[in-house]
Amino acid sequence: MNTDSTDNSLSMTNPLLITIDGPAGAGKTTVSRLLAARLGYRYLDSGALYRSVAYSIIADGIDFEDTEALSTHLNRLDLSTRAEQNGFRLLWNKRDITELIRTPEIAMTASVVSARPAIRNFLLAVQREMGKNKSLVCEGRDMGTVIFPDADIKFYLDADPRVRASRRYKEIPQGTAATLEDISRDMLRRDKNDTQRPIAPLKASEDAILIDCTSIDSENVVNQMMDFIASTIQNGSRKLSRTI
Ligand code: DC
Repeated sequence: MNTDSTDNSLSMTNPLLITIDGPAGAGKTTVSRLLAARLGYRYLDSGALYRSVAYSIIADGIDFEDTEALSTHLNRLDLSTRAEQNGFRLLWNKRDITELIRTPEIAMTASVVSARPAIRNFLLAVQREMGKNKSLVCEGRDMGTVIFPDADIKFYLDADPRVRASRRYKEIPQGTAATLEDISRDMLRRDKNDTQRPIAPLKASEDAILIDCTSIDSENVVNQMMDFIASTIQNGSRKLSRTI
């Protein structure tokens, strides 16, 4: 498939809502950004929203077990996004926190606080608003199952846990005192939190296409996705197979 010319016709004639779910380190962010750029779509990183809320909770010293304190915090929360090429920046109290939320501590806090119903409900509305005009690639844990159950195309990415941990290790900001073993242990804890929580647990939607990214690079994953999207549009329906 000639992806360049097909990309344009795909994005112009068929505004789609595409969801990409999966665990940490599966490659969702790189793949989602590349796919959004190829289609000329906006990109939503829902994990960044949970991380921003976690950051604000830590910075303001909120006891998130205290339902009332959490609710007051969310009502007053001044969180906004500023679009930039192929993504967005996150502002809390007008301050840019885009890089500050990328630490292992914030990742773990995000995983813990994201199980709170008040936080999930708060961000549900934010995310649905961002997806209402389609032409969006969104990534997270519950994009295809809870936030956008009627999405046009759903993918679920996974990879071997050792490969996922080593990818995450390469991404942590310089100066962070964490070993590969620390990252691997935290990642498995987060996997457990994210898959076992009662509300919106991480799982593949029944109609999602499963892609194992253990030994395929991001460019190739995106090529496969583009082929799938093109054939889905041409056939007017999804392939029967759940894997590509
Ligand atoms: O994608 P990430 O690693 O930046 O996400 C950080 C945490 O946020 C993740 O461990 C669980 C939570 N999260 C969630 O509960 N639902 C989402 N849609 C995205 C992230």
